[in-house]
Amino acid sequence: MTTVEHIIADLALAESGRHQIRLAEQEMPGLMALREEFGDSQPLAGARIAGSLHMTTQTAVLIETLTALGAQVRWASCNIFSTQDDAAAAVVVGPGTFSAPSGVPVFAVKGETIREYWQYTDRILTWDGHDGPTIILDDGGDATLLVHEGVKAEKAGHVPPPLEEEDPAYNIEVEGMRHVLRASLEQDPTRFTRMAAGIVGVSEETTTGVHRLDQMHARGELLFPAINVNDSVTKSKFDNRYGIRHSLPDGINRATDVLMGGKVAFVAGYGDVGKGAAEALRGQGARVIVSEVDPICALQAAMDGYEVARIEDVVDRADFFITTTGNKDIIRVEHMAAMKDKAIVGNVGHFDNEIDMAGLARSGAKHQPIKPQVDEWTFADGHSVIILSEGRLLNLGNATGHPSFVMSTSFANQVLAQIELWVNLEAYPLGVHRLPKVLDEKVARSHLDALGVRLTELTEDQADYLGLPQHGPFKPDHYRY
Ligand code: NAI
Repeated sequence: MTTVEHIIADLALAESGRHQIRLAEQEMPGLMALREEFGDSQPLAGARIAGSLHMTTQTAVLIETLTALGAQVRWASCNIFSTQDDAAAAVVVGPGTFSAPSGVPVFAVKGETIREYWQYTDRILTWDGHDGPTIILDDGGDATLLVHEGVKAEKAGHVPPPLEEEDPAYNIEVEGMRHVLRASLEQDPTRFTRMAAGIVGVSEETTTGVHRLDQMHARGELLFPAINVNDSVTKSKFDNRYGIRHSLPDGINRATDVLMGGKVAFVAGYGDVGKGAAEALRGQGARVIVSEVDPICALQAAMDGYEVARIEDVVDRADFFITTTGNKDIIRVEHMAAMKDKAIVGNVGHFDNEIDMAGLARSGAKHQPIKPQVDEWTFADGHSVIILSEGRLLNLGNATGHPSFVMSTSFANQVLAQIELWVNLEAYPLGVHRLPKVLDEKVARSHLDALGVRLTELTEDQADYLGLPQHGPFKPDHYRY
């Protein structure tokens, strides 16, 4: 039916996916405004964008905004459970007629294996007739990591040999990536080196990916400039917080239908995601306990009216455990062993290592799948815990992620970052940069009309009094909102 390259669940889902995309467009005014503003001038003409970001309906609107601005795009999901198969099909078929597919190559299937995940990430970096993409659009940093690890492997001339699953150093993610690197090295020993030379930069979506970029840059390993989209105010203070406020209870409900009201919910981390999670659970009537390592965030949580405690002190009290830290080993086997019967355990931080799933598998607890992305693990004493999405992002694994409107604020930043890297690269030397505040305010502004917000305007006199430009930017870069 189609000549557009793809590995997706089922092309026949395209029609339903297209209708959902059409409805999402209505709720994504930021992206639609960018299509309107830049559709004629085609600022992304000539750009080859490799995108690694949850292949959802909202992402479909992002992809089609990038192509409307002139880019060529290839896409994979950044999580094995987050793909919406109908959206993936619609993107492959494209917005035109269902009988003449003309869309974007997508490599993403809900429930793909880890090995497939890395193969699909590799496919978005593979461009016929070119050494690779010109820009990466990343979420969590796996596409960027693959390029960097590829270059390292090529310099070293080898990739470490495979480990057996029994080996204590075995890590399924690392092995999946190395499998792809070994195949690449065998076929073309300079592929990633040439590819990296042609990549002008990456725009990174999330907190965890930005941490990785900062660490790479500190080690002197970063190969191309990066724009930190996460720390645009209109990203992290909106998507991370209000997005999770919506999609966390959505995931819990679709997975379990267990009433949250009156129960005790434990939230690890009170950053942007933790704040949204705690607010959502409280909104459902749960009594929420927060844990933090940062005294500022702990104090904020206390002032916001939450109990702040360590997990070991409340582990036998809570009915729900949600991790939001971006850190590892937050919920360990000894915690799960001490939980109430049928406690629900889930993670919304980027990677699954917040919950020690490998330890749980080794613990002797008995595994009973309940339905996709919902598993019961029963300990020897007879009590069990319910694990959502195998410890991976439950709001995307058990539900469909954040709603369109908030993703419009995030993705408008992504599109602006891609344009900046393509047409204004000299402003972004090797390093990790944020977008200028004027663009942050532009993104916010483009979402006001849809909500009926009427902005007050500074008079010239008031602007002079404050020493501000009358039409912004209104805050210094260090302002925290
Ligand atoms: P953040 O840095 O604002 O918040 C994380 C908080 O966790 C920090 O306040 C930190 O002090 C705390 N923390 C670290 N270790 C801890 C520990 N051992 N115990 C208790 N607290 C601890 O980061 P943000 O933006 O809230 O993101 C958190 C994670 O969520 C990241 O992995 C990010 O990539 C991911 N994310 C997930 C989304 C989703 O849709 N599920 C959306 C946006 C971000």
